[in-house]
Amino acid sequence: MISSAKSKRPEKPLKGRVRTPGDKSMSHRALILGALAEGITEITGLLEGDDILHTAEAVRAFGAEVKRVGNGHWTVTGRGARGWRSPKDPVDFGNAGTGARLVMGAASGFNIKVSYTGDASLSSRPMGRVLNPLREMGAIFETKNDRLPLKQIYGGKLSAIHYTPPHASAQVKSAVLLAGLNTQGITELHELSLTRDHTENMLQAFGAKVGRKPKDEGQVVTIAGPVSLKATKIKVPGDPSSAAFLIAAALLVPGSDIIIENVMMNNGRAGLFEVLNEMGAFLRADNYRRSGGETIADLHVKHSRLRGVIVMSNRVPSMVDEYPILAVIAATARGTTVMRGLGELRVKESDRLAGTLKMLSANGVDAKIDGDTLSVTGGRIAGGAKVKTHHDHRMAMSALVLGLASEKPVRIDDASMIATSFPQFFDLMAEIGAHIETS
Ligand code: S3P
Repeated sequence: MISSAKSKRPEKPLKGRVRTPGDKSMSHRALILGALAEGITEITGLLEGDDILHTAEAVRAFGAEVKRVGNGHWTVTGRGARGWRSPKDPVDFGNAGTGARLVMGAASGFNIKVSYTGDASLSSRPMGRVLNPLREMGAIFETKNDRLPLKQIYGGKLSAIHYTPPHASAQVKSAVLLAGLNTQGITELHELSLTRDHTENMLQAFGAKVGRKPKDEGQVVTIAGPVSLKATKIKVPGDPSSAAFLIAAALLVPGSDIIIENVMMNNGRAGLFEVLNEMGAFLRADNYRRSGGETIADLHVKHSRLRGVIVMSNRVPSMVDEYPILAVIAATARGTTVMRGLGELRVKESDRLAGTLKMLSANGVDAKIDGDTLSVTGGRIAGGAKVKTHHDHRMAMSALVLGLASEKPVRIDDASMIATSFPQFFDLMAEIGAHIETS
């Protein structure tokens, strides 16, 4: 088992053609919708990361039959009209916020009792943002401070609500929509800024009618319940949030030139690509095609001389998971990159705003935080520090990519969480020529 890791400047440019694993957001949703649907859903390209394996276990506990047929190839026999049943034991989500929040939404539509648990990181994250609208619909939870562990003690026979989430969050939107599936009437969600729409897209693939109307900067999403989902085939494309680490590595290491195949290009996830283009990156998307209800492309990335830019807060929803790696990229750019509106980063797998500042400062990068704004000025990266990752996969991978551009190696205390979202990280990095030592 890997615990710590160390990265250093590669001697040669990074080269090669690689494929990132399946998208994490879509993989969770495919298992959950498959477990709700009538019939057998066949999923290919499923991410086999720890977060997804926890969701697979969770839906099994609610009575779905989940089978691994081959590499990334899974089937889910859903409960359909029988509905989810009360799990015998507590449902453990490990590190997976998306799994936990979406399943809580789906399960609240059934008259069942459930206990939920998670690891130390997940147990410190706010669940009230999902529990509050579900309570408004009529579900009852027993919690201490709206954190895990918690229990659903009443669900089912919910009332449809009109809800405007206070945070831009696809997880909250999805939890409410999934609860709405088993609720009589029209559940309406007004999101003030657009977030990733995989739940809406996939619900449609499972035969549900989802209303979507633009409103101001955001949209109103509706679902008229009750809805019976029909099993389907889901092909999960490559994860753009995982591709981000390979892209960053190629941008940072002189002479690099790589291709990443099969990356999902959903607008709700493309913020980093847009910002990198503004920074002057050579990042081209070729061979656009449709697969699994999403647009995908192959990304061609070359080492580039970048310039600092201002990233406004309206970008956050489309790149919320990409700020730590953008901050690493910014450390090599000419001038200062200013990233605004990063409050949500404080409640991810770790406090990513504080963690990014610490990671960069400890390795000699000029960075500062002012309120919810992070500024990073590019220049020489001394490296040499050991970064604490606080059970956070994206902090771990960001620090290791930083080491590829640092004078002295960068170490991390714990690399085990990388397996939650990107189990092939070390292999793919090695394949393009970045050999990262683990111990
Ligand atoms: C996700 C939504 C985002 C993101 C997370 C995955 C999803 O969280 O950070 O990694 O799959 O819906 P929020 O919705 O809380 O911003």
